[in-house]
Amino acid sequence: MTSLDADQRARFRRDGFLVLEGFAPDEECDALRARADALVAFEPSSVPSIFTTDEQARRTDEYFLGSGDQIRFFFESLAFDSGGALAVKKEHAINKIGHALHDLDPLFDHFSRAPRVARLVSDLGLASPRLLQSMYIFKQPRIGGEVRCHQDATFLQTEPQAMVGLWFALEDATEENGCLWAIPGGHRAGLQSLFVRNSDDTTTMRVLGDVTWEDGPLVPLPVKKGAVILLDGLVPHLSKQNRSERSRHAYTLHAVSAESAYPETNWLRRAMPARGF
Ligand code: FE2
Repeated sequence: MTSLDADQRARFRRDGFLVLEGFAPDEECDALRARADALVAFEPSSVPSIFTTDEQARRTDEYFLGSGDQIRFFFESLAFDSGGALAVKKEHAINKIGHALHDLDPLFDHFSRAPRVARLVSDLGLASPRLLQSMYIFKQPRIGGEVRCHQDATFLQTEPQAMVGLWFALEDATEENGCLWAIPGGHRAGLQSLFVRNSDDTTTMRVLGDVTWEDGPLVPLPVKKGAVILLDGLVPHLSKQNRSERSRHAYTLHAVSAESAYPETNWLRRAMPARGF
């Protein structure tokens, strides 16, 4: 059973991330993958929303802004032809599912609220944890888009900062198929930008600092299926394009502390409060 020892907790504080191999059993990874495939197969034909972190291309449409307490589907930008039609099959075109799988789907709920996950979050020191957001990320073969260097707290603000991310590898993640990269210690520079939802539902990227992540000493974090990578909300990280023939499925959870404020300017809104474990 997994819980963190003093050395692991110290490394998490020092680096802003921690890799734990062998966290989730293979059969649970496979069950989540099968469930995600089924959700995509049964998805009613909705308006595709392309996901990219490129600021200019970011589509902050109603579909995205309304997905905080829903299960919604976002597509790869490279999956469309010049006329805007899907150029590959739907199951190969999807970028991610977000953002309340952990509340609305029984299997993801069960996985996300397992005692081993609760122990991890507790060991990281997050008081009164609430599961705010989840994503299923497909990182498709050949067209899996990059996610540029960012801090998760840019997109999920808590005051004071009290948010951690859990990144579960449902398949082996390598440099070839787009594993995570992170900057050890980069969390100590503080929050560099804030994605703000304005009162008229437009969005603004507010620059807070002048750290250029591209200059940072990024290290790759290749992991085996079943690993979890714990991420401080402030640690800069990215994943590169997947040009390989292999997908790189991952499931992510973001937990916040109920003892911190959750400002109205967060893009993610929920009709019901986020629940804990
Ligand atoms: Fe992230």
